[in-house]
Amino acid sequence: MPGSLFAAESYRQLRKPLLEASGLPPDCYTSAEFYRREVECIFRQHWQFVGREEQLPEVGSYICYDGPAGPVAILRSSRDKIIAFANSCRHRGARLLNGAGNCKRIVCPYHAWTYRPDGRLIGAPGMEQTIDFELADFPLLELPVSSWGGFIFIHYQASPPALADHLGNMPARFDGHGAAQMRQVGKLEFEINSNWKLLAENALEAYHTGSVHRETLGAQKSRPVDARGNWTALLVEDERSVATLPGEDSTLPYIDGLGEEAMAGACFTLLYPSTQLVFAQDCIWWLAFTPVAVDRTLLSIGACFPQSTCDLEGFDEKLKPYFERWQRATAEDNAICEQQQRGQASERPPGRYAISEFAVHAFDNWVIDQILES
Ligand code: FES
Ligand SMILES: [Fe+2]
Repeated sequence: MPGSLFAAESYRQLRKPLLEASGLPPDCYTSAEFYRREVECIFRQHWQFVGREEQLPEVGSYICYDGPAGPVAILRSSRDKIIAFANSCRHRGARLLNGAGNCKRIVCPYHAWTYRPDGRLIGAPGMEQTIDFELADFPLLELPVSSWGGFIFIHYQASPPALADHLGNMPARFDGHGAAQMRQVGKLEFEINSNWKLLAENALEAYHTGSVHRETLGAQKSRPVDARGNWTALLVEDERSVATLPGEDSTLPYIDGLGEEAMAGACFTLLYPSTQLVFAQDCIWWLAFTPVAVDRTLLSIGACFPQSTCDLEGFDEKLKPYFERWQRATAEDNAICEQQQRGQASERPPGRYAISEFAVHAFDNWVIDQILES
C-alpha cells in the first residue's frame, strides 16, 4: 500500500456512512512515512493540550511537553501570563528544562548559555570573540499558548487559528462543569507499544468494555453527542459516575448545578488530535496520548475536581478508588492496544465498523482529512 497511502482513492470506503464504511488500512498504524505525515499535518497544525494552569502556581513555575513536533516548556512568566517556548537551546539545541519545577534562570546544561524565564538570553560565556553576535538576537523561540477552563494548549505555528475555533461547541456544551474553578489531583503515566490512533480509537467506543473490561467496568451503553469543531464524543449512559468501578460506593459528590444532559452519564470526548477529556458527574479526567514513534505512545492521565470537593475531609482516601479505576481499566486498554498493534503487521483489507463505533469512524475520517488536505 505505501505508494497509495496518500491517495484519496485509498480511503473511498472510509468516507462512506458508518454502516457502509471500512476502517483505516493497517499501514496507517505501522508506516513510518504515514507517521511523519501525521506529525507535519496533524501535530504541527493543531492546538495540543499540555497541562493545567494550577500546575503553574508561581512566577517561574514550569512544565514540559514532549510532543512529536518538538519539546516545549510552558512557564508562568508573570502572575497573569503563561508563555511557551521551544525547549531547545539557541546555541546547539540542547534540551533545556526537564519535568516540572520552578526556575529563576534557565541554564543550558551543555555550555551554560543562560536565559531569563521570559526567554531572553542573558549570558553566553565564551562567545565574546564571535563576530556580530548579540545576546538580544538569540531569545528562546516562543510558541502560541492559550487556555480554556484551566486547560493549557500550545501551538507550533506562529499565527494559529484561535483556540475557540478549534474547540467549537465544546466549551458551551460543558460550561456547567466549571472546569476553570477545578483543581488537578494526581497523575498516572504509561508507555505503550502501540500507535497513538489505536489508543484514541479504543477510547472512543464502548463496544469493547464487556470483553476487555469484563472484570472491571463491565458492559457499557453509549450514544452519540452533538460535537461541532475539532472533537467527537460518546456519552456513556449511567446515572452513577463511571469514574469509579461498579460496586464502589465511596464516591465523591456530584458537581453542583449540572444539567440533565451532564447527569445522564459520562461524556467521553476526543479533542483532536489526541486528548480525551471525560466529563463525568463528579469530575473531569483526561487521557493525553503523545506519540513518540509510529508504534510507541506516552499516555498521561490526570483528573480534576471542584475545589469544594478537594476541601472535603477524607478527600485523599475517597480519591483512591478513582485512581484504582483509572489504573486498572487503563492497563486493560493498553494491553489490548499492544496486541492490536502486533496484529497490524498482517497484510489485510480494512475491517468494518459496528454501530457503536460511530466516534471511531468520525476520528478516522478526521485523521484522513488532515493527511490528504496538505
Ligand atoms: S547547546 Fe546550549 S549552550 Fe551549547
Ligand atoms: Fe477501555
